[in-house]
Amino acid sequence: MNDKRSPRTYYEKGLITDLYPDFHWNSSAERTAVSKQVRSRHRLSNLIQAAYKYRRLQPLCLRLCLNLEQGPFYSSTLREILNKYHGVTIGQYSYGAILSPGVLPPGTIVGNYCSVGAWLIVHRRNHPTNRLTQHPFFYNRNLGYVSQDTIPVNEQNPLHIGHDVWIGDRVAILAGCRSVGNGAVIAAGSVVTRDVPEYTIVAGVPAKPIKKRFEEDVISKLNELKWWDLELARILECKDFFVEPVTMEKLVELQKYFQSQT
Ligand SMILES: CC(C)(COP(=O)(O)OP(=O)(O)OC[C@H]1O[C@@H](n2cnc3c(N)ncnc32)[C@H](O)[C@@H]1OP(=O)(O)O)[C@@H](O)C(=O)NCCC(=O)NCCS
Repeated sequence: MNDKRSPRTYYEKGLITDLYPDFHWNSSAERTAVSKQVRSRHRLSNLIQAAYKYRRLQPLCLRLCLNLEQGPFYSSTLREILNKYHGVTIGQYSYGAILSPGVLPPGTIVGNYCSVGAWLIVHRRNHPTNRLTQHPFFYNRNLGYVSQDTIPVNEQNPLHIGHDVWIGDRVAILAGCRSVGNGAVIAAGSVVTRDVPEYTIVAGVPAKPIKKRFEEDVISKLNELKWWDLELARILECKDFFVEPVTMEKLVELQKYFQSQT
């Protein structure tokens, strides 16, 4: 396949639906081929990663990742760079603000298939409010005045975002939130100060639960299925289940389908 479209096109329309409007592949060879395309790792990956250590080359390296590896949903080199140089782990097909270096503090882990809006802010520690001064000269050893950090560093309070989480635009996640559960939604403009339970929609300042997405039995079936661990190509073979509202009956049917495939 020789496709010259820009990463922006992939981002907006979705690579698979764009390139394979019918999805009627039958053989496992076809499936493998598609898998390879959607989880691209370019042969220049190692070189790009080595070049990234030079600050001036970083913008170029990031552009190359997107251009050579089918855009942000798929680029594995971009994920490797984020992991190696920024201490952040991003799962497959997750996209949005989390892929910009520096947005997520070191230690953050994000699951697969997450959608993240623009202007995300994540903080992992507060300035000390109970001391004579709140200024970082007196708690941040990188600034040279204290020999060690006097409040825990980011990595000591890592944020864990589950699978299939949707984070709206202009969200701030503060140090009091350590985990955002699978399938959770954080509404636009929210300030999240506490953990977000799975499959819960939270909104506001401070963010409070406004509703659960599904009943408990559906949530536990989804957790059992763990569909987010599957390759996109595999999911696309039964994509009808993914484009309709969820019911318990459909999930049971899907589970049977997966079992029949293994
Ligand atoms: C969270 C969201 C999905 C909820 O949508 P919904 O299920 O249709 O919910 P509703 O609009 O019916 O709102 C339900 C309640 O939550 C409140 N609410 C919804 N979004 C809110 C927000 N961002 N902040 C505060 N309250 C919010 C509504 O006012 C309503 O309250 P009420 O019952 O007291 O009237 C949606 O509001 C949202 O924030 N989407 C994110 C959009 C975005 O940022 N996209 C970026 C692209 S990734």
